[in-house]
Amino acid sequence: MNAHDHKGPKILLGVTGGVAAYKSPELVRRLIEQGAQVQVVMTRGAREFVSPLTFQAVSSRRVRDDIWDSEAEAAMGHIELARWADLVLIAPATAHCLGSLANGLADDLLSTICLATTAPIMLAPAMNHVMWRHPAVQANKQLLEQRGARFLGPATGSQACGEEGPGRMLEPEQIVAAVFEEPARLASQSLKGLTVVITAGPTREPIDPVRYVTNRSSGKMGYALAHAAQQAGARVVLVSGPVALTPPPGVERVAVETAEEMYASVHEQIGTADLFIGCAAVSDYRPQSRAAQKIKRNAEEMSLALVRSPDTLASVAALDDGPFTVGFAAETQDVIGHARGKLTGKGVDMMAANLVGPRCGFDQETNELTVLWNGGEVQLDQAPKAMLAQRLIALIAERFHAVRGSDSAAPQTGTPVS
Ligand code: C5P
Repeated sequence: MNAHDHKGPKILLGVTGGVAAYKSPELVRRLIEQGAQVQVVMTRGAREFVSPLTFQAVSSRRVRDDIWDSEAEAAMGHIELARWADLVLIAPATAHCLGSLANGLADDLLSTICLATTAPIMLAPAMNHVMWRHPAVQANKQLLEQRGARFLGPATGSQACGEEGPGRMLEPEQIVAAVFEEPARLASQSLKGLTVVITAGPTREPIDPVRYVTNRSSGKMGYALAHAAQQAGARVVLVSGPVALTPPPGVERVAVETAEEMYASVHEQIGTADLFIGCAAVSDYRPQSRAAQKIKRNAEEMSLALVRSPDTLASVAALDDGPFTVGFAAETQDVIGHARGKLTGKGVDMMAANLVGPRCGFDQETNELTVLWNGGEVQLDQAPKAMLAQRLIALIAERFHAVRGSDSAAPQTGTPVS
């Protein structure tokens, strides 16, 4: 079989300039043994330790090491390389490499690819133990982890400099085991290269400086969807109402409070979006005016005048050349009937409907959904929200690729949906 036409996961292996680079050709060999396709990208420092020819021999691919190499760029540009990868693995990752990635620098081919990819990034650091423990390096590690990068090691032991401590690169077989630990993650990049905007949580509509109108939404379903979309390879922007949840690693959160703020924030982001998922429980009405001072308890009765809030989902669905749109319909009765009405009424591509009651829907750990589109319907049975979110994202990806066709960034996965 030709090295370029098999179907294994596509791993872009970054090799940076640490002495542990001498182990990286062995790592390439073991990854290929596991069925991976490996494209090596070296930094200038790495070339001082190992010859590109060694990597070319073990990977059967021309090594890339220069963003200014016009011939190589013409064959497969750095953005294409970033899109090609199902995983970016950097082994060894030096202190300089971690610093560049944490700061978003793009001063060589590898750091540029890391900014341009939506694939998961795994880092196997290797450096002297004093460098590893340095607060600057630890702060970079923390920042990269918050953004979704996964660290493999380092191990503790004797170092090339003759000292002992944490900073040794993991052995190639340990790195390979970690890479293939989550095969589903490597295989299910169904939203690779796409940008997804998701709304989540309730909105809060002020009555006066201390009171507001809101609803029971916890944001759990929207946050689970954001996580699942990020794991499926998308760049995810989460426009969130006030909730008590931490954003999933690697997801960009924009915090809003009112329905009007949510509308404005979504429209600021939507120009770059391929997909929009409206999971927020937006207040349909808001107080007509907001009292400047706390309202006093003088009157026997009082009424609150409400006006309708802008409908974010319908407005996104109405955009010319807008993204593929998915809405949610939480109903207390006739769930399917109301959801079909909203599918056509709001002009969205898909609608996920659920019954809201004492034991289902809002602020619960589990949910069940009926997903509708023009000409189709699928039941997603009751499951924890994280699992349900993965199934819904797989279904959305399938419909998206079916409708938007081959010009969309990732191929259809055919992921089964129960
Ligand atoms: O009209 P209804 O609120 O039942 O529709 C629910 C769907 O519409 C959800 O996807 C919700 O996020 C979205 N929506 C919206 N803006 C509103 C009201 C609802 O985006 N003002």
